[in-house]
Amino acid sequence: MSVLNDPKLEALLDALHAQSAGQEEAVGVYFRRRIEEGTLSWDGFDAETTVFFRDKLVALEKVKAEYCYLLCRALNAKRVVEAGTSHGVSTLYLAAAVRDNASAARQSGRPADAFGGTVIGTEYEPEKAKIARRNFAAAGLAEYIDLREGDLADTLKTIDGPVDFVLLDIWTEAVMPAMRNIAPHLRQGAVIIADNSDQSRRGYAAYFDFIADPNNKLRTMTLPFAGGLEMTVRV
Ligand SMILES: C[S@@+](CC[C@H](N)C(=O)[O-])C[C@H]1O[C@@H](n2cnc3c(N)ncnc32)[C@H](O)[C@@H]1O
Repeated sequence: MSVLNDPKLEALLDALHAQSAGQEEAVGVYFRRRIEEGTLSWDGFDAETTVFFRDKLVALEKVKAEYCYLLCRALNAKRVVEAGTSHGVSTLYLAAAVRDNASAARQSGRPADAFGGTVIGTEYEPEKAKIARRNFAAAGLAEYIDLREGDLADTLKTIDGPVDFVLLDIWTEAVMPAMRNIAPHLRQGAVIIADNSDQSRRGYAAYFDFIADPNNKLRTMTLPFAGGLEMTVRV
């Protein structure tokens, strides 16, 4: 049995993963050129890089996304926040977990308030958000996703209840604006996954400072997925 156990959804995801993988070479060429030119800023994306990424999926790798699905099942996650949605690949895994948690609750006769669940997604590129919504509808998962369009520093200001799981899969300069909005809502035992935490150590510096502050009640570990996957727990 596959991790998702949903052949129709997996077929859609395989196509999206293939589309994203097909763009990786162009991403490599772009960054090598900017590094050779000495014009790449390590403190955040400039206008040229932002434009370059407008049509790039930069999807979370399948193995990491499946891991997130399983974590959401283990946590019985009902409220999930995702920083960085793009075309919605990781969002679909998270929404499938929320749907499957609700369905397990229904089958075990738990009270009706256990049936719901939402993944709050965030995307500031209108075209990417449009494609993401199309993918959510094609997967039959739109009812589990609240995609918020605009800069997440604004769109995540309102979070209506305790957050069980967070995925940070975004340009690193947006990590702390996301965390400042999300952190007050983390329930005890919530898990935060941050992609490429080893590869982008410098970009994540402020996030690691935030984790190290005992007032924030976080414990962390870098998991040995490609590029490093940071798993942080709100204790
Ligand atoms: C790495 S991609 C997300 C990939 C996605 N998680 C997936 O698996 O398909 C990061 C996305 O975050 C978006 N983004 C970057 N900064 C943002 C911000 N401040 N607010 C909202 N979206 C942002 C980018 O446009 C990009 O599409």
